[in-house]
Amino acid sequence: MKKQYRTIKFAFGFALSGLILAGLTSCGKKDENSPGVEFMPDMYRSNSLEYYQTHTVDGQTEMNAKLPVKGTVARGFLPYAYENNTEGYEKAGLNLKNPLTEKSREEYEKEGEVLYGKFCVHCHGATGAGDGKVGGKLPGPPPAYSSLKITEGKMFHTITYGKGTMGAHNSQLTQEERWKLVYYVQKLQGPPKGAASDSLKTAAVTPTVAAKK
Ligand code: HEC
Repeated sequence: MKKQYRTIKFAFGFALSGLILAGLTSCGKKDENSPGVEFMPDMYRSNSLEYYQTHTVDGQTEMNAKLPVKGTVARGFLPYAYENNTEGYEKAGLNLKNPLTEKSREEYEKEGEVLYGKFCVHCHGATGAGDGKVGGKLPGPPPAYSSLKITEGKMFHTITYGKGTMGAHNSQLTQEERWKLVYYVQKLQGPPKGAASDSLKTAAVTPTVAAKK
């Protein structure tokens, strides 16, 4: 009995001194930011690469965030053939046609309207008059859509890359969404004024009309 009592006492004393030791070592005042003893360092210090840092393999230091390999196309991404310059703008204006024809135009306009409310209305205004709350604060406010005489290809190009103080929207909107917006912008434009109702189509063949825009 006595021996058992002594073992319990010893175990208790051992545990107590362990606790005191842990208490003393864990609350050092040397470095206030030190986390103290790390029991499982792997949990704190992950081996994975951090974003936007560098790593070194075979003596070569590279960025962790990689650009796509040249000539490759990301899954679900449609490449856009025209470059972000005046030539690309003119060519897009001549060659691009709205490919969305499966549903009715009204349906696309409705979907475009939703996107317009999220991405465009603050600059271009609800009726496309260029009187959005942000539009008025720009050095050159957006033009009223009704005054635009440009083809759908040019609209698409501008929504893709931006123009003047209008930013690019190709990272926020898929090509399909941009084409829906083109339908909606055309709806806001109203029927073409003056000449024949297909004056937009004519402009596509004779780009000189809007070349300096
Ligand atoms: C930051 C404000 C701003 C936003 C947001 C914006 N625009 Fe614009 N937009 C402008 C300005 C300013 C212009 C005139 C650019 C110029 O001609 O220099 C313009 C021009 C245009 C044009 C005429 C393009 C041309 O080739 O002349 C179209 C079409 C257009 N915007 C559509 C849109 C659509 C659709 C959206 C939403 C996806 C949008 N914009 C979002 C400011 C904006």
